Amino acid sequence: MYDVHAIRKDFPVLSHVVYLDSTATTQTPVPVVEAMNEYFYEYAGNHGRGAHRLARETTNRYEDAREKVAAFLKAEPSKTIFTKNTSDGINLIANSFPFEAGDQIVTTLIEHHSNLLPWLRLQKAGVEVKIVKPEGPEGLITPESIEAALTDRTKLVAITQVSNVFGSVQDVSKVTKIAHKNGVKLLVDGAQSAGHMPLDLSALNCDFFATAGHKGLLGPQGTGVLYIKEPDLLESASLGGGTVSEVEGLDYVLEPSPACFEAGTPNIPGVIGLGRAIEYIEEIGVSEIEKHETQLSREAAARLSEMEHVEVYGPEKRAGVIPFNVCGLHAHDVALILDQSRKICVRSGHHCAIPSIKFLKVGSTVRASFALYNTEEEIELLIKAISDLKALVA
Ligand code: ALA
Repeated sequence: MYDVHAIRKDFPVLSHVVYLDSTATTQTPVPVVEAMNEYFYEYAGNHGRGAHRLARETTNRYEDAREKVAAFLKAEPSKTIFTKNTSDGINLIANSFPFEAGDQIVTTLIEHHSNLLPWLRLQKAGVEVKIVKPEGPEGLITPESIEAALTDRTKLVAITQVSNVFGSVQDVSKVTKIAHKNGVKLLVDGAQSAGHMPLDLSALNCDFFATAGHKGLLGPQGTGVLYIKEPDLLESASLGGGTVSEVEGLDYVLEPSPACFEAGTPNIPGVIGLGRAIEYIEEIGVSEIEKHETQLSREAAARLSEMEHVEVYGPEKRAGVIPFNVCGLHAHDVALILDQSRKICVRSGHHCAIPSIKFLKVGSTVRASFALYNTEEEIELLIKAISDLKALVA
C-alpha cells in the first residue's frame, strides 16, 4: 500500500512547509543525501582517471549509477550520458547534430525555453524552425499537427512529454512513429515525465531523450540524463578530459559513448546520489507514484475550478501540474501571500516558457505541482488558502 506518511519521513523539510513546487525541483530524500555524503567522507576520487583505490571505487560507483539509471529508463548504459540538467542535454544535441543550412526543425509552442532556445539559436546557421501550436488552452499537441508541419527538409522533431506550464501529456509514442515514418529524428524533453510515470525508451524508440536528475528522479541539482539511440551519428561539440583514447599530432581518436560525451570531471557525488535516488523510486514503484500524483492534482484542479475567482488552465487529464490565476491578483502576489500566510510554496511567473504564457493571453500563472510526498491534507490547505483569497478580490 502507498504510505505517503512513511515516505515523508525521508524528506525532513516537509515538516515545516507545504511544498507544491516539485516541477521546479523536488526535495531530496535522506538516503540520496547519505549516498553523497558517503562519497565525500569515505572514498572521494575522480572518475575513470586513476589506478588507486579511491579512483577505482569512485569509477565503480559512478558506473553503477549509470547502470541503474539506464535500467530504469530501459536504455543501454552505453547510450545513457550524464549531463548537468535537461537544458545541457538538449544543447548537446543542438550543438552536435549535423544540421546544415536549409534543414528544418519542428518543435511546439508549449516548450520550455530549454527545448526552444537551442533550436532558435540554430537559425543563425540557416536552420529553419517551425513551431506547432496546441489545439487550445489545454496545451495538447496533436500528432496530426506535427505530421502536417513536416517537409522533406525536416531533420528533427523536438517535443516535450509533459508540459511544465499546462500539465498536459503528449502522445510522444505516436509522434515518434510519425517522425520515423517520414525519416525524421525525434527528441523528447522528459524533464517533467521521468520519475513521474513509467518510461520505456526502447519501446518508445525515440532518438534522443533528455531529462533532469533533480525533478521526478529525486536526485540532486546539477545532474541530468541524456539518452542517444545512435551515438555514432554525433560528434560531441564539447570535448576534453576523458573523451579521447589517443592524440597523435593534430589528430585525436574519440572514446566510444558515453565517455566521448562527458568531457571533464563530472558531478560525481551528484551522479552517485542520482543512482541511489533511482533505487529509492524503485522501492516505491513509479506506477504507484504516478497514480498518487495524478489523483492529487486532478482532485485539486477540479476543486480550484469550482471557485468563481479562480481560473484553472490545462487539461482535465493532467500530470501533477496545475496552472491557475486568482482573478484580480498578480500570480507573484498570490505566491507571496500563500508563502507568508501559510508556508505554502508554489511557483509563479512565466515558468521559463514565455510562448506558452503568451498563448494563454496571461502575463503569468500560479503553479501548484505535486510529487510522491504530497498529501490530501496539503490539498485541503491549498484549497482553503485560495478560497480565503476571495475576500481580497471581492
Ligand atoms: N523547469 C522548471 C519549472 O518549470 C524550472 O519550474
